[in-house]
Amino acid sequence: MKLFDVYPLYNVTPVKAEGITLTDDKGETYLDFYGGHAVISIGHSHPHYVDRLKEQLEQMAFYSNSIKNPLQEELSQKLEALSGCVDYQLFLCNSGAEANENALKLASFHTGKAGVIAFRNSFHGRTSAAVAATDNPKINAPINRQHQVDFVALNDLTAFEQLISRSNHCAVILEALQGVGGLDEPTSEFYQFVAKKCREHNVVLIADEVQSGFGRTGKFFAFQHHGIQPDIISMAKGMGNGFPVGGILIHNDLQPSFGMLGTTFGGNHMACTASLAVLEVIEKENLIANAAKMEAYFKEKAEKVPQVQKVKGRGLMLGLEFEDEVGELRKRLIYNQHIFTGGSANKKLLRFLPALNITSNDIDLFFERLKNEL
Ligand SMILES: Cc1ncc(COP(=O)(O)O)c(C=O)c1O
Repeated sequence: MKLFDVYPLYNVTPVKAEGITLTDDKGETYLDFYGGHAVISIGHSHPHYVDRLKEQLEQMAFYSNSIKNPLQEELSQKLEALSGCVDYQLFLCNSGAEANENALKLASFHTGKAGVIAFRNSFHGRTSAAVAATDNPKINAPINRQHQVDFVALNDLTAFEQLISRSNHCAVILEALQGVGGLDEPTSEFYQFVAKKCREHNVVLIADEVQSGFGRTGKFFAFQHHGIQPDIISMAKGMGNGFPVGGILIHNDLQPSFGMLGTTFGGNHMACTASLAVLEVIEKENLIANAAKMEAYFKEKAEKVPQVQKVKGRGLMLGLEFEDEVGELRKRLIYNQHIFTGGSANKKLLRFLPALNITSNDIDLFFERLKNEL
C-alpha cells in the first residue's frame, strides 16, 4: 500500500534524537532548530520526560473519559500555577486543530451564533471550522467554505469594529503572534481594542496558542505580552514535546454541560503524563526565562548578518527575513550544514523554532552554519 502523498519530504531519515541533535539512519547528525514545527519544547528524549512516560506506560496507558483520571486534575493544577491563568477550566483533546475546533464550537454554543472573525494570514488547523478560520483558500474544501468567517487585517481597528458591530459573530480567533503566516503581530493597543469590543458585543475571544504557548515566546502564553484576557485559550504543539496532546482553557464564565464536548483519546494517561513532564521541566530548568534570554542573544547576532533584512518574532519563535525566497537555502542548510530550520507563508522568512533549553553556543553554531550558505 502506498502512503497518501501529501507531504513534500526532505531526503533525511532520523532514527534517534537527543536534545537538539538528530541522528539519521546512516549515523549522520543534524541540529534541530525547527523542533518538528515548534513541537519539541524541552528537547528530544529529555531524561525526565522519558522516565515519566516509561513509568506511566508500565502502570497504565489509556482509559476513556468515563472514569476518574487524577492525572487530568494534576495537569490542570500545574497549568494554572505555571500559566497564571487562574479563572479557567481545562478540556483536553489531541491536536491543535481539534483544540480550535472545540473552542469555536463552544463559542457557538455559548452565544447561539455562528459567525467567526479571523485575521488575514491566520492558520488555525485543518479541520472543519478551524480551517475555515484559516486564511488560505487552497486548503479549504467546499465543505469547509460553508462556515461563516470574516477576515480582517491586523491593526485595522475600523474594519474590525464594523464587522463586530454586525452582531452575527460567536467568536474572534487570533494568534497573538502568527506562526505559519510569518511571525506578524499587531500592536497591544489593537489587541486591547479587540478584547474590549468582544466584551461589549458578547463575542468569545479565542487565543490560539497552539504554536506560541507553553513558554515559546518568553511568557507562558503569547497574549500575555499584550495585557488581554481571552475567554478561551487553545494549546497543543509544545504541550507534549512530541506526544500528541492538545487542550483548551475555558474561562469560568462559560459553563459546561454533560456531552457538550467529548473525545475518546483526549486527556488519556500517557498524554497527561507527557504534558506534566513538560511542565515540570519548564519549571525546574527555568525555560521560559531562557527563551527570553536566548531571544536577546539571537537578535544581537542576527543584526550582524548583512543579508538579513528583518528579524521577527519573540522568545524562541523567531525568524530572519531575507531579500529572496528561502526554500533553496533551507535545503542547503539541511544537506550541506546539517541544520533543520522552518519556513512560513512568507516565503522570504527563515524560521527558528528550537527547544526552549538551547544555549548561546547552539545559537553560535546556527549562525556559523547559516553564514556558510549565504
Ligand atoms: C497557530 C496554530 N494553530 C493550529 C495549528 C494546527 O495544529 P495541528 O497541526 O496540531 O492540528 C497550528 C499548526 O501549525 C498552528 O500553528
